[in-house]
Amino acid sequence: MTEVSTALLQQYSLPGPRYTSYPALPFWDTTPGPQQWLQHLDSALAAPAARAGLYVHLPFCSSLCTFCGCNVRVARGHGAVQPYIDQVLREFELYREQLGRPRWSIGELQLGGGTPTFLDAAELDALLGGLLQHCDLTPDASLATEADPRTTSSAQLQTLRRYGFTRLSLGVQCLDPRVQDIINRVQTLAELRAVTDNARELGFTSLNYDLIYGLPLQTADSIEQTFAAVLRLRPERVTYYGYTHVPWIRPSQRRFTEADLPEGQARLILQHLGRKRLLEAGYIELGVDQFVLPGEALLQAQSAGLLQRQFMGYTPANTQALVGLGVSALGATGASYMQNEKNLQNYQTRVQQGELPLQRGHLLSAQDIALRAHIMALLTTYRANWHSNDAACAVLQPALTRLAPLQADGLVELGERSITVTATGRPFLRTICMALDARLLARSPELALGNSPL
Ligand SMILES: C[S@@+](CC[C@H](N)C(=O)[O-])C[C@H]1O[C@@H](n2cnc3c(N)ncnc32)[C@H](O)[C@@H]1O
Ligand code: SF4
Repeated sequence: MTEVSTALLQQYSLPGPRYTSYPALPFWDTTPGPQQWLQHLDSALAAPAARAGLYVHLPFCSSLCTFCGCNVRVARGHGAVQPYIDQVLREFELYREQLGRPRWSIGELQLGGGTPTFLDAAELDALLGGLLQHCDLTPDASLATEADPRTTSSAQLQTLRRYGFTRLSLGVQCLDPRVQDIINRVQTLAELRAVTDNARELGFTSLNYDLIYGLPLQTADSIEQTFAAVLRLRPERVTYYGYTHVPWIRPSQRRFTEADLPEGQARLILQHLGRKRLLEAGYIELGVDQFVLPGEALLQAQSAGLLQRQFMGYTPANTQALVGLGVSALGATGASYMQNEKNLQNYQTRVQQGELPLQRGHLLSAQDIALRAHIMALLTTYRANWHSNDAACAVLQPALTRLAPLQADGLVELGERSITVTATGRPFLRTICMALDARLLARSPELALGNSPL
């Protein structure tokens, strides 16, 4: 196990993108027109063996966790659910019509939210039946959903299994009652264990738990207590996020104050402690925020060079385009990104009018595409290398200079045209990617100066 000193953490843990895309979403600046987006999808899916991924955003939650940074809609009853399902199905129909592609080969289906298991079993059936009747799932297709252990029933899990879902990601966050109280998310270990056991009995083969460090009132004891309890349940994956505080976007985060948040060194200690407990328990650090048990599909994909990182995190699925359905859903092709309307009412109105509800996106430049390949290589294999004629050389060669202090501290090994992240460097993967992030460096030139860790 690789121990990391607090001094290294303090120096190199910089706030930065999670790199579920490159450029990261705040840096998108050239939205493709609808026809251009459709053309990109069409050419990405034109090859004989090409397959698409589908992401469906289901925004409903039964209550609001005050820390939450996702696009959610608190719903008391289910009145809004069926109309929303109809709109998502209509949106997929619009894609099928406008692309002249009545049947789709699908390598990945992901439900996210909000809380997909806010939908009851019949509603999940309506959604999945409506989508998948137009799809051919590839034999190795990966079907995954997020779920809230507080609202997930056996009937819902059975429905998901019937459609071929094998991956379940459960929100856990933190089990300390004081933290749960201030984030308005009281959930018990017994609930988590019941859903975990039930999912395994029904044949889910990969369970992920989302855990967070940096939540209000969280202490080292909260982390010890949470990890001691949850790691006994042996989820195949753990995603260990740092809490993102964006009260100007999510006003519910104002229900606690900055004084309640562990910041600076206190936050780093929580990050370090959780990571340490994961590694001691036999988990392997796969990449940014992601830990997996040996033998997990993501590790096999990594060994085979097939691991991908996209908006929902790491995936073993090999797809050529991702289509996002639902409010705020994200999509991607090799040359563009796209996000749907973030306002639920606008999303619904536009779909009802027969219009693709696209809001903003990004057309990747040749340099973006080259840098994305190298950043994704670092994120999935801990290594990037390039030739002298690489379209991003103007960024990559200075990145070696920026990373020289990290080499001196044993976090990376630098070649003439290569970067390899060492075992000690793994917790700093985001910071290392930031050295290649031309768009971030253009906006924050101070990061590139001699006195900065980059
Ligand atoms: C859509 S939610 C998960 C599913 C379900 N709604 C639940 O809460 O159990 C996705 C995950 O995003 C993470 N998340 C949400 N807000 C966050 C924030 N402000 N900072 C860091 N992670 C956050 C949480 O770990 C959460 O489990
Ligand atoms: S954490 Fe999950 S349940 Fe809580 S508000 Fe966010 S999406 Fe909803």
